[in-house]
Amino acid sequence: MGDNAGSNRKFARQGRAWPDLRDELQRRRAGDLEWNDLSNLKAAYDAGEDVARVAWEAYTLFRGDNLLYGNLLYPSLPAMADKVVGMVLELLNAPDAAGGTMTSGGTESIILAVKAARDQARAMRPMTGPGEIVVARTGHAAFNKAADMLGLRVVRVPTDRDFRADPSVMAAAINDNTVMIVGSAPPYPVGSVDPVAELAALAARHRLWLHVDACVGGFFLPFARDLGEPVPDFDFSLAGVTSMSVDLHKYGYVSRGASLLLVRDRALGDFQRFSFDDWPTGAFTTMTIAGSRPGGAVASAWAVMNYLGYEGYRDRVETILKVRRLLTAEVDRIDGVRVLGRPMAGILGIGGDGVPDMAAVRDGMTAKGWRFGPLVDPAGMNLLLNFRHGAIVDPFAADLEATIAEARAGKLARSRGQASYGS
Ligand SMILES: Cc1ncc(COP(=O)(O)O)c(C=O)c1O
Repeated sequence: MGDNAGSNRKFARQGRAWPDLRDELQRRRAGDLEWNDLSNLKAAYDAGEDVARVAWEAYTLFRGDNLLYGNLLYPSLPAMADKVVGMVLELLNAPDAAGGTMTSGGTESIILAVKAARDQARAMRPMTGPGEIVVARTGHAAFNKAADMLGLRVVRVPTDRDFRADPSVMAAAINDNTVMIVGSAPPYPVGSVDPVAELAALAARHRLWLHVDACVGGFFLPFARDLGEPVPDFDFSLAGVTSMSVDLHKYGYVSRGASLLLVRDRALGDFQRFSFDDWPTGAFTTMTIAGSRPGGAVASAWAVMNYLGYEGYRDRVETILKVRRLLTAEVDRIDGVRVLGRPMAGILGIGGDGVPDMAAVRDGMTAKGWRFGPLVDPAGMNLLLNFRHGAIVDPFAADLEATIAEARAGKLARSRGQASYGS
């Protein structure tokens, strides 16, 4: 719980001058990693100084404005949010009836999708138990968080050897209580894209809600496909896809606190909406979990998308694809490790293939200054690449090779076994 202990648990009686506070803030972050330091291979979505400036300046312009009161006070905010939703719906081949909501992040988009699917199922048919959602092992933990909050059960099923959802295993897990099946494009661990076309056919056959989690791929895969990558169908062009989560604050390069939940048909918003009016301040209706919502996130999304345009995003994806290919070649060259699955986006999973203790290699790479996510099953590393990471290909590969040699020579300490996604 941070530094909330002992003498720190004191609310200053008197305020302090901003320059003094600013100095202290600088000192406090002295031990933090610079977010876009090249060693940071854990979700540092850097698209360049210019893009970051647009994202932050746009955010700051609208720093006091609240999307919750958009229609009353700040009509430019819902208007810009509409434009952002519209641009992404076009990118993902959505039909005219489709709609969407800006949310605070991928987790909120996912929770809202699960809520909508649950409430639609309850409205459509009698249920004999808590609703269930069927998710491949690789699907994001946010589906379990959603189920936990919404009184549902998650049925996790194994993937195929390439870490992709296996439609026949998913099919076998469906029962009368299933309210949703999930595909990810791609899931976070290694970046293989689930066979969404087959999941869409499955969903259509069972008349089930299919959510496609494109939090990390929504702003990547369309451009990768345009550049000739063999990206399988994953979006609203498949009739069975009901909803999609797409994060603006990942490869959309928008200031944090920005994602989209998109639905094939705006009418599905009835199941997403929360309304209440039996209190003293009038009707309260929201499409989100959050009440107050930062206007800055909306402005940032609108500004960055218009600044980069389709071609700006495609250029960055092109560079990241090159980086991924170079790094893949280097990793595959090193005896004892390999790239896992069939990466399609900016994610790379590295696993061991004959290294005595891959978790110790992971710790060894951390000790050499690299920052990345862990993989625990199989043991390995999870990297998220950005367009500046061309510069790390050689040093990363050299350190990996050296660390594996240390592991083989018995020079690495046994892994302390700390493997956590975040916090
Ligand atoms: C595939 C996928 N889904 C969902 C999420 C959750 O997003 P957030 O951290 O914005 O809540 C992530 C985060 O990396 C993700 O990669």
